[in-house]
Amino acid sequence: MRYEIDSILVREDQIRDRVSVIGRDISELYRGKSLVMVGILKGAVMFLSDLARAVDKDVDVSFDFMSVSSYGKSTESSGVVRIVKDLDSDIRGKDVLIVEDIVDSGLTLSYLLQVLNHREPASLSVCALLDKPERRKVQVPINFRGFVIPDAFVVGYGLDAGGRWRHLPSIWSVRPVQD
Ligand code: PRP
Ligand code: MN
Ligand code: MG
Repeated sequence: MRYEIDSILVREDQIRDRVSVIGRDISELYRGKSLVMVGILKGAVMFLSDLARAVDKDVDVSFDFMSVSSYGKSTESSGVVRIVKDLDSDIRGKDVLIVEDIVDSGLTLSYLLQVLNHREPASLSVCALLDKPERRKVQVPINFRGFVIPDAFVVGYGLDAGGRWRHLPSIWSVRPVQD
């Protein structure tokens, strides 16, 4: 299936405003603490880099990254999740925040929560820019949420379709091209 970008769902300025509010919320909650922000590659890259800059200096922030596979090239979740790249450091006893671009079926996040909880962090929370609740297959907690969106396939600001369009500053819906 080929796709083309269709229309803007969340504009760049809307993302910026929301990110700064979430950054303030995170700053308040973790003030004086050490926080490991765990970006889930590749989708969360843009969100993590903007969000981290919205967290103030009274939080001792460090980054780590994890890469898991679920979608492959398709727009539908395969339900298969495996670790492609694990964290570099031990999170035992640390305050950890998983940073995701989107929670769709919830399968990726559910798997991550299970794996990371097992490592006994002091706390484990979730920050997701987009939440698509209509598609949920497993219930997952989201502590900080950017936007609730309808069931459309979206790209931009880190999100892709077959690897494309991650670089777009806004979030767009895509539609299949008939050929
Ligand atoms: C996307 C997205 C989330 C996950 C959400 O990642 O970035 O990580 O799917 O879907 P789910 O709730 O149905 O599990 P993807 O697997 O496409 O990898 P990517 O981040 O490298 O694009
Ligand atoms: Mn992802
Ligand atoms: Mg993807």
